[in-house]
Amino acid sequence: MTTIPKRSRVAIIGGGPAGSLLAFLLHLEGIDSVILELRSRAHVLGRVRAGVIEHGSAEILKQAGLGHRLEAEGFVHDGVQVTFAGDMLRIDFKGLTGRHVVVYGQTELQKDLYEGIDAAGIPLIDEVEGIRVDHVESASPSVSFTHHGETRTIECDFVAGCDGVHGVSRDLIPTGMRRSYERTYPFCWVGLLSETPPVSDELIYASHDRGFALCSMRNEHRSRYYVQGPADTTVAEWPDERFWSELTARLPAGTARSLVTGPSIEKIVTPVRSWVGEPMRHGRLFLAGDAAHIVPPTGAKGLNLAVSDVVYLSRALGDFYSTGSTSGLDAYSGTALARVWKAVRFSWWMTTMLHTFPGSGDDFERRLQIAELEYLFESESARRVMAENYVGLPL
Ligand code: APR
Ligand code: PHB
Repeated sequence: MTTIPKRSRVAIIGGGPAGSLLAFLLHLEGIDSVILELRSRAHVLGRVRAGVIEHGSAEILKQAGLGHRLEAEGFVHDGVQVTFAGDMLRIDFKGLTGRHVVVYGQTELQKDLYEGIDAAGIPLIDEVEGIRVDHVESASPSVSFTHHGETRTIECDFVAGCDGVHGVSRDLIPTGMRRSYERTYPFCWVGLLSETPPVSDELIYASHDRGFALCSMRNEHRSRYYVQGPADTTVAEWPDERFWSELTARLPAGTARSLVTGPSIEKIVTPVRSWVGEPMRHGRLFLAGDAAHIVPPTGAKGLNLAVSDVVYLSRALGDFYSTGSTSGLDAYSGTALARVWKAVRFSWWMTTMLHTFPGSGDDFERRLQIAELEYLFESESARRVMAENYVGLPL
């Protein structure tokens, strides 16, 4: 049973990738923290999420000593495929940028993070309820919650809001002092996980008149596929047969012929939207990850933005505790948002280029999409821009 401290320098709300990596990076800076997670450990570890790790994020995890399994079991991808009008184009990350991505399920990464936290003796309190944060505008905030029926309060210097899109942290910034930017898309993704060999050893992003499709993987035996569906669709509307036939129809003939289908072991419907909340700081409260921004899954940026946020935040807190300087903390929101907006732009660009917009009836937009794709197929500069953003912009 983890001891609940009465005081900790940093109280972290949320034990997902952002919160758990932050705790570990703070530990490496010699800064104690406590993680307060709403769900059970098992629930957090059981989540099936995307798994593309940028070059820079992989380096950060390795330098932190959290990259052993990522290196041993992750797949280094030096490129990605884009299909359009029956053709296949390879975006050569290695050739165009000298960098790569690593395909490694977020579920596996979460396991590594929790192992690191336990080994470091960082308290992770799961199944907490009714979190309340007080005095973030003072130098001594506190976090109160109920745990197994008992009310607890933790005094701290800083609060990190890493509680995702449904968390409580972002609403702690007074309405008059925060601003939201949102773009919703008129479709969603239907995702299927199957114990079948991947159709390709690199991801395939498919643009098709019937809608977008993505071929991804978890390992040599387990594949992850997505097809674009109507915004209000449900899993029930996608029996396996319909999913496989729709996916097959959206892939070039050669690829479709080598697609191995099988029973789904997990199916999800995920909304596609972009959302950014500014600022990412209010007094002694700092937001990181999905608590501050959501990107469409098309650019595989969600997890990687959580990593860059907590790298900036842990460095700023490290500076504060080692030198007393608040310059990093004062710059945090601006620095993090600058990188966030570039990833939001890239994810919007990938999403608008590769999906169909049913009912928009905007033939001009459709012509622009086709021109964008043809330019990508024809121009090495266009492919380099895509590669640079996909492997990850510098931190
Ligand atoms: N109190 C405590 N914990 C909470 C609360 C709350 N009120 N509300 C939510 N949480 C927990 C959630 O249960 C979850 O484990 O906060 C955690 C937030 O984790 P994520 O949603 O995974 O967000 P983040 O850590 O920012 O990681 C972002 O994860 O979801 C993917 O696509 C996303 O890749 C992105 C990455
Ligand atoms: C995934 O593997 O689940 C995945 C990969 C790339 C994306 C989105 C999801 O852009």
